[in-house]
Amino acid sequence: MSLPLHRLAAAGGLAILLCACQPDLADQPRYETYEAAPYFGNGRSAREPVPGTVATDAQPADWRAPRPALEHALLSQGREAYEVYCAPCHGSTGAGDGMIVRRGFPAPPSLHLPRLRRAPDTHFYDVITHGYGVMYSYAARVRPGQRWAITAYIRALQFSQQAPVTALPAAERLHLPADGETTP
Ligand code: HEC
Repeated sequence: MSLPLHRLAAAGGLAILLCACQPDLADQPRYETYEAAPYFGNGRSAREPVPGTVATDAQPADWRAPRPALEHALLSQGREAYEVYCAPCHGSTGAGDGMIVRRGFPAPPSLHLPRLRRAPDTHFYDVITHGYGVMYSYAARVRPGQRWAITAYIRALQFSQQAPVTALPAAERLHLPADGETTP
């Protein structure tokens, strides 16, 4: 294929123009962090962290956010976050039979084991923060407040599997199948 001469010349000119831009883009003026600069009150190119700031990777391993009050709204948030972040492996009831497990991921223990029923709330908060064994950390996805919400919901799940019938309001008890009857 042969191109007319004027086209070749135009293409060549364009190529030269494009190349000419390259050095400007690659070599732009910039400041080093904390270099002298006129922008901020401290006379540097970046502001210093406010006193008391703790870098997230500098937090002590046992640091926990303040615990929010146990209210219905917290349980609802916990349920939503549990369904998103935990149920895929731990299952909606906490039995450890989530969809990812059914597809081959190592099965987590049931959250209804006596050991985990007895574990303090901080254990669940810490497992979410740091991970546990083959379970990776959820610190990057689950905010500190949400970790308490999920913990509260896990407590509700645990209670739901062990609650005595008498703990149900009378109106709810009417919906239970009679002895010997199976749930439809
Ligand atoms: C990708 C799958 C997966 C997800 C998602 C997951 N886990 Fe796990 N989890 C596991 C596995 C597997 C184990 C068992 C780890 C081991 O023993 O090595 C485990 C263990 C646990 C344990 C038991 C720790 C102990 O003392 O034995 C708790 C509690 C727990 N996870 C809570 C959670 C919570 C809360 C979430 C949601 C924020 C969550 N997990 C999300 C897989 C998962």
